[in-house]
Amino acid sequence: MNTTLNIEINKTKVSKLPQTNFDDLKFGQTISDHMFVADFENGEWGNFRIEPYAPLQLNPANATLHYGQSVFEGMKAYKNENGEALIFRADANQKRLNESAKRMCIPEVPEQLFMDGLTQLLEVDKDWIPNKPGCSLYIRPFVFATDDYLGIRPSEKYKFMIFTCPVGNYYSKPVSVKVECQYTRAAEGGTGFAKAAGNYAGSLYPALQAQKQGYDQLLWTDGKSHQHIEESGTMNVMFMINASLITAPTTTGTILKGITRDSVLTLAREMGVKVEERFLRVTELEDALRSGTLVEAFGTGTAATIAHIAKIHINGNDYELPQKDSSAFSNIILETLDGIKYGKLEDKHNWIIKI
Ligand code: COI
Repeated sequence: MNTTLNIEINKTKVSKLPQTNFDDLKFGQTISDHMFVADFENGEWGNFRIEPYAPLQLNPANATLHYGQSVFEGMKAYKNENGEALIFRADANQKRLNESAKRMCIPEVPEQLFMDGLTQLLEVDKDWIPNKPGCSLYIRPFVFATDDYLGIRPSEKYKFMIFTCPVGNYYSKPVSVKVECQYTRAAEGGTGFAKAAGNYAGSLYPALQAQKQGYDQLLWTDGKSHQHIEESGTMNVMFMINASLITAPTTTGTILKGITRDSVLTLAREMGVKVEERFLRVTELEDALRSGTLVEAFGTGTAATIAHIAKIHINGNDYELPQKDSSAFSNIILETLDGIKYGKLEDKHNWIIKI
C-alpha cells in the first residue's frame, strides 16, 4: 500500500497573492507563499514540513557557502482548462537530482520524499500556477550541505527544499550566441553532467564577457580542443542541418541530460525526423552557416523550453539565421510540447502528473 509522507503543514497567515502582478512576471523574481523543507541528519531524512517561504539562518561556516556542495533541479507545473495542476516529467527530475547528488557526495532524495514534498507543496500553493498562455509555475527543488565545518569532507547534514515561482517567458526574443573557444564549462571526468551549483557559478564570467561584446549567451565547446559544440548558455543545444536534428550525446559526462532535450528528441523521432546524437564540429557549423544548410538552431531547457538562436558568432564572424515561422520544426515541437504540458494534447508518454 502507498502511504503518504507525514508532512507538517504550517500555512502563512498573509498570502502574497493579492499583491502579485501576474501580467509582469520576471523569471525567478516572484516567489510563492510556501516552501517544503526536509533535514538529513544521522544518516536519514526527517522533519518534513511545509512552511511560509522565509529566509534561512545559516552559520558563516556553512559548508555550502565555502565548498559549493549543492545540487538543484528545475521543473514546471501548468494549469489545464479545468483549472487542474499538471506537473511535467517530475519522475525524470527526481532521478536526475539523484545523479547530480551522487557526483557531489550528497545523499539521495528518495522518490517518495521528492514526490510527496512536491505534490503537497503544489496542493498548498495551487493558486500560484498562472492560468495564462505561456505562463507556468517554475519549481526549484534543491539539496545543500548544512554542516558548520571548514574542513574539506562531505557534509554530514543537508537540507532538501522546494519552492516555486510563477513565471512568464524566459526569453522575450531569439538570442544571439558566441562560440566560446577559450573558457570551458565542463571537462570529461568533471561535473558537467550534474546540475551542481558550481557549474553555473563558473559559467558566469565567460558569459559576461560575451554579453559585453553584445551577445546574449555562449555556445560552449569541449574543454580539450574547443573544436566541437557542447551546450548553449545553461541549455542543451540543437541544430537542424539539412533535414537532420543534431545534438551533443550525453555519454562524455560533459552534457546535462536535459529533460526538455529528451522530450524534443522523443517527439522528433516520432515525427520521423532524423536525429543524430553526435558532436557537431565548429568547422561543420561554420560551413553549414555559410552554405545555408543550417536551417535552425535552438537551445532546449525547462526555463525557456525552446530558445531560438538568431545569430551565431564564430571566430570574428557573425552569421544571421533566418526568422522562423510556425512551420519551422522548433515551433511545431514547442507547440506540441506546450499542448501536452497544458493538457490540450494527449499525454501518450505519461509525462504528466495531475494533482
Ligand atoms: C534551464 O534552462 O532550465 C535552466 O536550468 C536555467 C536555470 C539555471 C535558470
